[in-house]
Amino acid sequence: MKKTIEWINNVSRMVDQTVVPYELKYVDIKTGQEMYDAIQTMIVRGAPAIGIAGAHGVSLYAIELEKENLSREKFISELIKKARYLASSRPTAVNLRWAIEKQIELIKNSNSDIKGIVEELAKHGQKLEDEDIEINKKIGDFGAEVVPKSATILTHCNAGALATVGYGTALGVVRSAYAKDNTVQVFADETRPRQQGARITTFELVMDKIPVTLITDGMCSYFMNKGMIDMVVVGADRIAANGDTANKIGTYTVAIAAKYHNIPFYVAAPLSTIDINIKTGAEIPIEERSHEEVTHINGKRICAEGVKIINPGFDVTPNELITGIITEVGILKPDYKDSIKKAFLEI
Ligand code: MRU
Repeated sequence: MKKTIEWINNVSRMVDQTVVPYELKYVDIKTGQEMYDAIQTMIVRGAPAIGIAGAHGVSLYAIELEKENLSREKFISELIKKARYLASSRPTAVNLRWAIEKQIELIKNSNSDIKGIVEELAKHGQKLEDEDIEINKKIGDFGAEVVPKSATILTHCNAGALATVGYGTALGVVRSAYAKDNTVQVFADETRPRQQGARITTFELVMDKIPVTLITDGMCSYFMNKGMIDMVVVGADRIAANGDTANKIGTYTVAIAAKYHNIPFYVAAPLSTIDINIKTGAEIPIEERSHEEVTHINGKRICAEGVKIINPGFDVTPNELITGIITEVGILKPDYKDSIKKAFLEI
C-alpha cells in the first residue's frame, strides 16, 4: 500500500478514511483550513497520521502566507499563530501538537528567507513521514518478541498503517509477528461509535491476508474467559509520564477484562505519543465528539428522539493495567515513571 499521507507537489495527499472500506480513495488537501477540517472530520485519523497532517498543514499555511508579501517577521508571527490554531483541531492525540511544535521550532531557528522557510518546512514534513515508517517497523520488531507462538491478538480501534504513514503501531506488532509465524491471528473489536476496528483494521488485515475475526465491543471478555485471547495490543493517543494511556474509548474496558483474565495488555506507540509534560492521565484532555456519532449508524437514526447523549472519544487506561509499552527504543516496563524518563534520556 502507498503511504497513508504524503507531501507531493505542494499538497498533502491522504487516504480518505471516512469511506474505507468501501473505497480506497486519496484526496489532496491544498490549504491550511482544509487540513484543519480534514483532521476534525477524520478524513485523516490515528495519532501518528494526524501528527504528519499537522506538519503538512503548517507547510500549507506557509505557502499561503508567502503569497501575501509580508515582512519576514510578520510572516513568522502569522504562521506560528495559524500553526497553533491547527493544533486545536483535535485535542487528545499529542502527536499533532508534537509535530506542529517541531515545525514551529524549525521556523524559529531558520536563518533562511521566506521562500527558504517554506521549502525547509516541506522537506521536514517529508522527513517525519519516512521516520514514522522506520519507527513503526522498530516497534513491530520489538513487539513481535513478546507475541507467543500461534497467538490470538486482540486489538481495539485501528492502530495500523492507516493510522500512521505506514506499517502501523499495534498492527505493526501484528505484521512483524505474522512475518515470523503465520499461525498468528487477530480478533478486532468493532470500536463504536465510528467503527474503526470494523471498517479499517479488518480492511488492512484482509488486504495483507492476515487472519482476522471481527467481534463487537461487548464480546471481548467472553472470548477471554474461553481462553481464546493470548494477548492484547492497542495503540495510544497520549501517554502521561507515569504510563497512563489515552486511547480510543473502550480501551480501558478491554484492559480491565485482560487484567481479570491474566492476559498481557500491551500499548504500542512511538515516543512522540508520550507527553512527559503531564504527570498522570487525569491531565489528558478528552475529546467530546458529535452526538450524531452515537445516535446514528450510516446516516440512520438508531435510537429514540429525545434521548440524552455523551460521546467521549477516548478513555484513559491506568498504568497498573499495562504490561508494557512497546516503543521504537524497546519495551518499557513498570515502573513507567522511571522507564519513560530513561527512554527520553537515551534518545
Ligand atoms: O479517533 P481516532 O480514530 O483518531 O482514534 C485512533 C486511536 O485511538 C488509535 O488507537 C491511536 O490514535 C493510535 S494510532 C497508531
